[in-house]
Amino acid sequence: MNHQKRWWMTISVIICLVVSLLVGGKAFSSQERVLKIATDSTFPPFEFQGNGSQLQGFSIDLMQAVLMASEAINDNINLKLQWQTLPFDGIIPALQAKSIDAAISSITITPERAKTVDFSRPYFKAGLAIAVAKNNQDIQDIKTLENKNIAVQIGTTGAQLAKKIPGAKVRSFDSTPLALQELKNGNVDAVINDAPVTLYAINTGNLQNIKIIKTLITEEFYGIATPKKSPYLDLINQGISKILENGKYQQIYDKWFKDISPTLPETLPFIQEKTPNTSAVIVILSSLPSLFQGVLVTLKLALISIFFGLITGSLIGIFRLSAIKPVGLLARIYIDFFRGTPLLVQLFMIYFGIPAICQQLNFTLSFNPLLAGIIALTLNSAAYIGEIVRAGIQSIDKGQTEAAKSLGLHPIQIMQYIIFPQALRRMIPPLGNEFISLLKDTSLVAVIGYEELFRKGQLIVADNYRAFEIYASIAVIYLFLTIIFSQLFSKLEKWMNPV
Ligand code: ARG
Repeated sequence: MNHQKRWWMTISVIICLVVSLLVGGKAFSSQERVLKIATDSTFPPFEFQGNGSQLQGFSIDLMQAVLMASEAINDNINLKLQWQTLPFDGIIPALQAKSIDAAISSITITPERAKTVDFSRPYFKAGLAIAVAKNNQDIQDIKTLENKNIAVQIGTTGAQLAKKIPGAKVRSFDSTPLALQELKNGNVDAVINDAPVTLYAINTGNLQNIKIIKTLITEEFYGIATPKKSPYLDLINQGISKILENGKYQQIYDKWFKDISPTLPETLPFIQEKTPNTSAVIVILSSLPSLFQGVLVTLKLALISIFFGLITGSLIGIFRLSAIKPVGLLARIYIDFFRGTPLLVQLFMIYFGIPAICQQLNFTLSFNPLLAGIIALTLNSAAYIGEIVRAGIQSIDKGQTEAAKSLGLHPIQIMQYIIFPQALRRMIPPLGNEFISLLKDTSLVAVIGYEELFRKGQLIVADNYRAFEIYASIAVIYLFLTIIFSQLFSKLEKWMNPV
């Protein structure tokens, strides 16, 4: 009884704490007006994190100056900036969901985006440029990019443009540095990206052997984005106008670009036509063909990896039980390493890390993303499967081995006819779990630009900004797949255990 009371007290204290935190947070924000601003901080020199993990860059300085200027104009206003970093392709959905108040992330003002979010007046003039390897002579302009392999950052104007190039194979990455790394590693022919960012990366010496094609292929203007009808948009616009007038803008421009800033237009001349909101059913139905292609790729990735994972894992499991000490030890180290490090890190090591170090050692090694995905998933699942196999074998009573020995059977025969068939039955349920985890883990391969189910969905959201409908459909599809496979595994288990 006493014990129960204590439980209740602990639970009520936790509830009170959570509620007061939530309510307290709200009260705080209404006094001071906390402005939640999102940015994807992988875009130097506009927004990035320096060594001290402090946000910095042109956009960061500009946003601070803009808010200070608008506070100076409206003296009843006291704004407090709260930065939040988000992946670029998540920014517009977050604005739509109103989970942030504004975003400054070198977002190009485009008519399509202006249908879902509002933009401030332009604050920077930029444009897209092509980057290629220094020794590449045949790519000169957009025309010569036809049928080439191009890396881009997902959801950017560069990605939209690349999609329109006839025959081009586009690989999309979560951040611009990853797309540039892909070019550096020689896996693609070109990157289409905002010119100032590529130039900055080349000039800071991080991208030897890469050059930029000087003629810009587009002219673009960046704007600060807010949710539709945001009360802050006016304040932001007042602030931008103010710093353009009083020289603060030029000062920040000079700090980051050591140049005179170009003149900026007050508005952009495109019409904001109102498009009717497409219904969720239509959004989902029209995304299905593309998602279905993704499902096939996901299945391919999972099935091939589990096949090799089973072979490698069984060997590891058997080595682990080996009477030869060093063999057992090696198997143990393998298992510890692959179980003890995140799959995502292993994937990055294999796909970006190993080719990069090979380049430094002056020989070229590159994986295609399917191969890298299969290698990472195989090596990782083999560690878990190794343990399943070991436990399965060890679960069979020692007495059986001794009995078989006394009947004169050879150790291999004992394993083959007596131990393994029984152990296998016990291994089926954990192997089923392992396969289902692996099936879900295939979604991590999206980070190396491979278009499996999850990436297909991200690409659709980057186009139509219907995050809820698409991610919910993807979740349902994964659920459907895992349910089918767990049914199959239960059938298999019953079939092998007929009694
Ligand atoms: N200007 C481009 C666009 O709006 C790319 C911006 C990417 N920004 C970033 N922080 N990664 O699509």
